[in-house]
Amino acid sequence: MSNRADIVPVTAEHDAEWWRQAAVYQIYPRSFSDSNGDGLGDLKGITSKVPYLKELGIDAVWLSPFYPSALADGGYDVDDYRNVDPRLGTLEDFDEMAAALHAAGIKVIVDIVPNHTSNRHVWFQEALASPKGSPARARYIFRDGLGENGELPPNDWTSIFGGPAWERITEPDGTPGQWYFHLFAKEQPDLDWDNPEVHEDFIKTLRFWSDRGADGFRVDVAHALKKDMDAELPNLEHLHRADLFRNGEHPLWDRDEVHTVYSEWRKVFNEYNPPRTAVAEAWVHADRRARYASPEGLGQAFNFDLLQADFDAEQFREIIAKNLAEAAATGASSTWVFSNHDVVRHATRYGLPKGGGRRGHGQDGVDWLLEGGDPSQVDAERGLRRAKAATLLMLALPGSAYLYQGEELGLQEVGQIADEDRQDPTFFRNRGVEVGRDGCRVPLPWDAAPAEGSSFGFGSNGSHLPQPAWFADYAENVQEKDPGSTLAFYRRALALRHELQGAESLGWQDSSDDDVLHFVRPGGWHVVANFGTAPVVLPEGEVLIASAEVDGGKLPGEATVWIRAQH
Ligand code: NOJ
Repeated sequence: MSNRADIVPVTAEHDAEWWRQAAVYQIYPRSFSDSNGDGLGDLKGITSKVPYLKELGIDAVWLSPFYPSALADGGYDVDDYRNVDPRLGTLEDFDEMAAALHAAGIKVIVDIVPNHTSNRHVWFQEALASPKGSPARARYIFRDGLGENGELPPNDWTSIFGGPAWERITEPDGTPGQWYFHLFAKEQPDLDWDNPEVHEDFIKTLRFWSDRGADGFRVDVAHALKKDMDAELPNLEHLHRADLFRNGEHPLWDRDEVHTVYSEWRKVFNEYNPPRTAVAEAWVHADRRARYASPEGLGQAFNFDLLQADFDAEQFREIIAKNLAEAAATGASSTWVFSNHDVVRHATRYGLPKGGGRRGHGQDGVDWLLEGGDPSQVDAERGLRRAKAATLLMLALPGSAYLYQGEELGLQEVGQIADEDRQDPTFFRNRGVEVGRDGCRVPLPWDAAPAEGSSFGFGSNGSHLPQPAWFADYAENVQEKDPGSTLAFYRRALALRHELQGAESLGWQDSSDDDVLHFVRPGGWHVVANFGTAPVVLPEGEVLIASAEVDGGKLPGEATVWIRAQH
C-alpha cells in the first residue's frame, strides 16, 4: 500500500524532464552583481537580479563556483565543497537565492569540481603534514621524484595552464620531498579517483547541495577523473588532446573507467524527485560524448562543436545533424553553446577577420588575444550581427541552450587588460602563449551612468577586473528602454521559444543557396538562417522574430528569422 504522503503530484515543478529543452543561463558569480561594494559579485547580488532573470525568460541558472577559494583559478580551486566563500556570502544567502530563483520558476545548477581540490583544502593540508605513503597522501597523486635525490619530476608531463604538471613539496621535517600531480594550476592538486574515500566525499557533496535545493550539477572536466599515471605517451604533443584518442586509452583523458563514477552519481541523482540533473564538461571526441550523456550516467554533456565552428552554413548543418542523430540514438537531449567563461565572447569572435571559431592556436579569438586584443581589429557590428543570427538559430534547435551572462547585452570581449590587472593563471604560467580568459569575465554593466560607484552599476565601489569605458554602451538600463536592443531581442526569442517548443525533432528543408539553412520544427515553426551576405527571399508566413530587419519578404545577409508558416 502506498502512503499518500509519498505521492508527489506531477506538476511543472516536478517535471523530471525539465532540462531536456531548457535555456540555461550561466552566471559567473564574482562578475555578475556586487551587493556589498567589495568589487566582487556575490550571492545577494544574484538574488537582487532574480526579477531580471525572470524577465529574460531563462529556465535555469548555472552558477560557476562560489565556494571558499583563494581564486588561483577563478574559484575552480575549491577549499571547501560544502560552503560559500565568505566574500560571496553564506549558506543562508544560498538558501535565500535558491528560494527566490525557484519562486520565479528558475532551476539552480551548481558547479562541481571533482578532478582537483585547491591546495588549501583540508585534505591537501593534511597530506602535506602527513608522511609519504600515508592515507592522507593517498587521496592525491603523490610520487617520488626521479634523479639521485628525487629532484626531477616523476615524468615530463605538462599542465594545461603551462609549465610542469608536477610540484615538489617540502616534507613535514623540512626536507625536499615528494611531488604531486596537477593537471591545471599548482594550486589545484588532482585527486586520486581510485581511492574510495574520494568517491564517498563527493557523494556527500552531491547530497549536500541537492538537499539544499540544487536541481542539477555542471561537472568540471568530467573526462579527467580516472588516470593511468604509469602509462607512456608516444608523443608529448598528445598530452592535452583528449579528442585524438577515441579508444578510452589516453592516460589522462576520457578513460572508459571514468563512467563508473557517474553511474554511482546517477543513483544519488535518482534518489531525488525530480531526479537531479547533470551536464558533463568533457572536451572529448564527438563520437565519445554520448557516453557522458547516457541516462545511466550524467544525462547530458556539453557539445562545444558549434562554439568551435566558423560562421559557416555547411559547418553548422553538419554539426547540428550529427548531434541530433546522436541525441536520438542515446536518448539524451543535445546541448548547444557559443560562449562561456573559458572562451572569447562570440560577438567578438564573429567580428574577427576569419570565421569566428575558437579553440587552439591559429583560430580567431586566440590569435587576436595573442596579438594584444586590439579592438580596432574587431568589426563589433558585424560580430554582433552574426552572433545574434547564430543565437537565434541555436534557440530554435531541439535540446538545451546554454547562454553566458552578458551575451544578452551583446557584450564584446575585453581584449586589452593591463598585465597587472590579469587574474587568469593561464596568463601567469604561460606568458606570451596564452593570454587567458579574463576578457570574458569582466563584471557586467548594469547602469550606464550610476549615481553611485564607478562600475556601471555592478556594485558601489569598483570591480575586481577593470571595465572599459565602452561598457556604458552595453549597459542593461540603456537596453531596457530600447525595443531594438539586444536585450529586447533575447527576451522576445526566449519567450517565443517557450511558446513554440514541442517535440525534439527538426526537418531540413531544401535550400537552393549553399549559404542558407532552413529547417522546420513541429507546429510549422520555420527557421531560416542566412550565413551569406546577400539577401535571400523568404518563404511565405508570419515573421515571428528576426535577428535583422526583414524587408519586402527578404532576409538580409548574416541573419536568422523564425516564421510561422501559413497553412
Ligand atoms: C574547466 C573550467 O571551465 C575552467 O574555467 C577551469 O579553469 C578548469 N576546468 C579547471 O577546473
